[in-house]
Amino acid sequence: LTFPLADAARRVSPEERAAILADPGFGQHFTDFMAHTRWTSESGWAEGELIPFGPLSLSPAAAVLHYAQEIFEGMKAFRHADGSVWTFRPEKNAERLQRSARRLALPELSTEDFLASVKALVAADEPWVPAVDGDEASLYLRPFMFASEEFLGVRAAQTVDYYVIASPAGNYFPRGVQPLVVWITDTFARAGAGGTGAAKCGGNYASSLLGKREAAQHGADEVLFLDSESHTAIDELSGMNVFAVTKDGRVETPVLSGSILEGVTRDSILRLAADRGYQVSEERLIAAELLERVASGEIVEMFACGTAAVITPIGEFRSADGTWTVRDGGSGELTLSLREELTGIQYGRVEDRYGWLTRL
Ligand code: COI
Repeated sequence: LTFPLADAARRVSPEERAAILADPGFGQHFTDFMAHTRWTSESGWAEGELIPFGPLSLSPAAAVLHYAQEIFEGMKAFRHADGSVWTFRPEKNAERLQRSARRLALPELSTEDFLASVKALVAADEPWVPAVDGDEASLYLRPFMFASEEFLGVRAAQTVDYYVIASPAGNYFPRGVQPLVVWITDTFARAGAGGTGAAKCGGNYASSLLGKREAAQHGADEVLFLDSESHTAIDELSGMNVFAVTKDGRVETPVLSGSILEGVTRDSILRLAADRGYQVSEERLIAAELLERVASGEIVEMFACGTAAVITPIGEFRSADGTWTVRDGGSGELTLSLREELTGIQYGRVEDRYGWLTRL
C-alpha cells in the first residue's frame, strides 16, 4: 500500500506547534495528519491515504463500540543530532500487530504495509518530531485497527479501519524518571489463561483501570497484576513489563505465559543485559518470594519498562499485607545504565550494534 498525502493544510500553526513541543507531556497533543486504510472481507485492504487528524465518523452500531474488537501498537520516532529521524525495531511492532490481529479475529496488515503507513505519516508530520535537547522527547506513534462494520451480531467484522496517529511525547509518568510506588492488587487480574493477555488490545487496558484506581487510592503510581489462576505469580503492570535485578547480577522478568504482553523494550533489555554478562532469566516469579527477596536485600533493583515508560525504576511495593522498599527506594544503578544505553541507541548517541534502528 501507499499512503499519499491529501491536499490539505497543516491543522496546527508553527507557533502553536512550538509551544506544544516545549512541554509535550504524554498523549495530550496530536499532529497534523493521520494515516488510514480500510479493509473489507470482499476486497481486502484499500489503497492508503494521509488525511488531516480529526474526529472519525462512525456508526453508533460499529461493532468495536459494543464488542471491543480493537488492537493497537505503540512505537516512537526519534530525532538524531544530525536531524535525521529513526524508529526502533518497527518490524517487531508489525509482527505483534499481526499476532494481535489473529487473536482478535481482525485482518492482518503486512509488515511492508505497516512500515509504509508509519513512514508516510512521519514524513508528513516531520516538524512534529522533537528536536534533540537532552529531554529525550520523541514522537509517539499509535497504529490501531478496529471493527467499524455497522452490525450488532457477534462475529468478526467484515469492515475494519486502520489508522496511525502521532503525538509528541515527553515522560510518560508526570513525575518523570523518579522511582515508582507500585501497588500489588489481589482484587483484580488483568487477563486470564486462554484470554487476550498477550494481545495488544484495548480490552486488556480497560480491565487494568480499576486496578490502577485502587493503586492510586493507596498512594501508588502503578498497579502490578498477579496471574488470574493462582493469584501468586506476577504478570505485569497496567501497560508495562516488570524486571528485577539481584545482588549477584541476575536479571529476571516474568516468562511469556500467554497472558502478558511481549514487550519490544522487554526483549531489548534481555539482550542488552545478557550481552553485558548478566545472567538473564525469564521465569514464573512468585510475588511473595519476590517481596521476601526485596526485604532480605537479595533483590537490589526493580524497574518497569515499555515503549511509553522506557525504563522507569520501582522504589517501593505496597499491598494489603505491607510495604517493601527496594534497597533504599532510589533509582538502581543498572536500571539507569540500561536506560542510558537503550535511549543512547534510540537517539543515535550509542552505536546501533544490533541493527535495531530504521530510518524514517
Ligand atoms: C506503550 O508503551 O507504548 C503502550 O502502548 C502502553 C501504554 C501504557 C501507553
